[in-house]
Amino acid sequence: MIKVEGVSKEFVNAKKYPGLKGAVKGLFSNEKERKLAVNDISFEIADGEMVGYIGGNGAGKSTTIKMMTGIIVPTSGIIEVDGIVPYKNRMQNAQNIGVVFGQRTQLWWNLPLGETFTILKEIYKVNDKDFKKRMKFLNEVLDLGKFMNNTVRTLSLGQRMRADLAASLLHNPKTLYLDEPTIGLDLVVKDKIRNAIKEINAKYHSKVILTTHDLTDIEEICHRILIIDKGTIIYDGTLENIKDKYGKTRMISVDLHDISVVKKINFNKIFNVSKKDFNYQIDGKTVTFIINKDKVSVSAVLSNLMGKTDVKDIRIKETDIGDIVKQIYIAGI
Ligand SMILES: Nc1ncnc2c1ncn2[C@@H]1O[C@H](COP(=O)(O)OP(=O)(O)OP(=O)(O)O)[C@@H](O)[C@H]1O
Ligand SMILES: [Mg+2]
Repeated sequence: MIKVEGVSKEFVNAKKYPGLKGAVKGLFSNEKERKLAVNDISFEIADGEMVGYIGGNGAGKSTTIKMMTGIIVPTSGIIEVDGIVPYKNRMQNAQNIGVVFGQRTQLWWNLPLGETFTILKEIYKVNDKDFKKRMKFLNEVLDLGKFMNNTVRTLSLGQRMRADLAASLLHNPKTLYLDEPTIGLDLVVKDKIRNAIKEINAKYHSKVILTTHDLTDIEEICHRILIIDKGTIIYDGTLENIKDKYGKTRMISVDLHDISVVKKINFNKIFNVSKKDFNYQIDGKTVTFIINKDKVSVSAVLSNLMGKTDVKDIRIKETDIGDIVKQIYIAGI
């Protein structure tokens, strides 16, 4: 069980000044730059749960994972993972967790992959019998056989990621932290990784905390999601619930000759709806309406527009989770 209670992280760094002169100035300056990356977050994760941790760039996902794995210390608040405070008992915690950071490998660059696993076996003190059993299972779900003798440096990104995932699982951790495990991978490898995560969870009942920008990862793996925005958790619940709530949403993108007319129309007043049920974003000459189809009809929006300017093109899109998250950023829950 994981407990995160009122956790915040503020980074404090010496202020940087541009250029060589600036670097010298920086040496003698005491000015500090502060960044509140995570702001008073709380949640619990039960054994065997698979949770998606999502949010925009810089929202605070990796910072949270780093605190949960013990790499960095919270500025305030308490984290407990299976009874251990990760940043206080790093070594003990390391025995219980597996970590994959998609952006960088944790394997030894110049060693053949097989040797890497032998070293990890020693580090984690896995006995011969367990080692054989787990390697067999990991080989089956991640298909490592073909490149087991290759040097890590020569592996393709997809092969390396499968190897990284296997390495993080060798000691059968109770908790698996995956920070963008499918980044940059093709669809076939993504699928392999997703299936492997599901099989590992089913077999070992490990908790999985997954951050990703690929919402298919979430849809396929996680029942529960946490959404973080500017360091604050803005949603903690099921994926279904959020789909129900926002599944009524339609997005209509319209290319216009004269985009300025959009701002002159008070749609919310015309349709008598709040911003939650009707909103729009403008990008160049395209306006994208985000509407609750139960409150406002697509045709009513279009007829209001068409009377006032030429419409070049219209695209209607069913919402996916990505759009829903975007909407929460704009309108809130
Ligand atoms: N060591 C650090 N010093 C100062 N600021 C930092 C540091 N690490 C992260 N930050 C800042 O904290 C905020 C949160 O960063 P974090 O890496 O947790 O975001 P993220 O949600 O993982 O984003 P992404 O989706 O881009 O990976 C960002 O504004 C980032 O610039
Ligand atoms: Mg990150």
